Amino acid sequence: MQLDWISSPAHELRGDVCVPGDKSVSHRAIMLSALAEGISRITGFLEGEDTRATTRIFEQMGVRIEAPSPGERVVHGAGLRGLRAPNDPLDCGNSGTAMRLLCGVLAGQAFDSVLSGDESLCKRPMRRVTEPLASMGASIETAEGGASPLHVRGGRRLRGIDYASPVASAQVKSAVLLGGLYADGETSVSEPRPTRDYTERMLAAFGWPVVFEPGRARLSGGHALRAIEIAVPADFSSAAFFIVAATLVSGSELVLRGVGMNPRRVGLLQVLRAMGADITSENRHEAGGERVADLVVRHAPLRGIEVPTEHVADMIDEFPALFVAAACAEGSTAIRGAEELRVKESDRIAVMTAGLRALGARVEETSDGAVIEGGALRGGTVESRGDHRCAMAFAVAGAIAGSAVTIRDCANVATSFPGFVEMANGCGLTVHAA
Ligand code: S3P
Repeated sequence: MQLDWISSPAHELRGDVCVPGDKSVSHRAIMLSALAEGISRITGFLEGEDTRATTRIFEQMGVRIEAPSPGERVVHGAGLRGLRAPNDPLDCGNSGTAMRLLCGVLAGQAFDSVLSGDESLCKRPMRRVTEPLASMGASIETAEGGASPLHVRGGRRLRGIDYASPVASAQVKSAVLLGGLYADGETSVSEPRPTRDYTERMLAAFGWPVVFEPGRARLSGGHALRAIEIAVPADFSSAAFFIVAATLVSGSELVLRGVGMNPRRVGLLQVLRAMGADITSENRHEAGGERVADLVVRHAPLRGIEVPTEHVADMIDEFPALFVAAACAEGSTAIRGAEELRVKESDRIAVMTAGLRALGARVEETSDGAVIEGGALRGGTVESRGDHRCAMAFAVAGAIAGSAVTIRDCANVATSFPGFVEMANGCGLTVHAA
């Protein structure tokens, strides 16, 4: 059933919120715990559809995973070679992270498997992972045009490679490194720009020797993962919608607690600050090996900027929110070098351009970004195209527009941010089902 939202103009955002756990960390926590020896405990786990899909997939392969309370998982690791052949296709739902990282894991198994997903995921490019894995000796058959479902043949002997990835993608890097756990010799990956390093950091925490620095990582096969406890920080990408909303709505002062501050994730903070935002961080500390802080966001007028291309990878999931911020800034904001946005859960450049234009913004779409003229937004109807982050970004637009914004096709918000509507309404936004 289609879910539409209406987001109405907000007065001010106030309060103290803690957004759900980080999606990237939650996926990896399940995967590595499942492949580890011993019992791992995860707290702060994201109860989203994407991360639950990953959990179900490992259960299908025989891993016992308990959920003693919301956000908690106890994973009885099967060891690197302890997974069982699944009887059915492994359904990744909407999750590119699940599908791509699992390619690396499944390429090293003794059994065959099939990875499938929803309509959006079935259109996304998979050769970016199947090709490097094939050069390691894996056999993964794609559907036409490099799409999924993917048929992974097991029982292959993998060998390490030195892979220079043409795309800055943590999913590609992670798939190759996870394949490398099963490979003979050394596997190394270099990237055109550094991307989030959760896989490397978590592998090290699980006791696997891995050498990494921004933009490069390497490891060798033949070791073991040992169970650990993992505290998942709050997801910066979910916090981003509230950061932008509190910045735009006058009179706002909002505190976001325990937000993950991995440097490869917080590019939006630097860009918003350069636009004039008032965001301070407090109570900085480390939790579960990750930097975490409370963020205090106060309303501030924004001015347009040229977004430095070196920040693009560090804010790759934050562009829908940035499009809205830019549409409300004084002057123009130019986004370039962000062509990856075209192959996310939707073509985010096209979806955000169309939606903001429907609300009266002047947006020039380019092949790798957009030029957005700031001004006042008006109410209207926008299509999220089933993209969770575009839906939430348009909910923020509704808070600042002259009248209500109707947002179509919002059900997928549950993939990354269950409880978004309740949390939004609890701190001053007005979002309800249409
Ligand atoms: C992710 C990496 C990014 C990001 C996605 C999560 C990850 O994708 O957009 O939401 O957990 O590794 P790419 O690797 O395709 O850039």
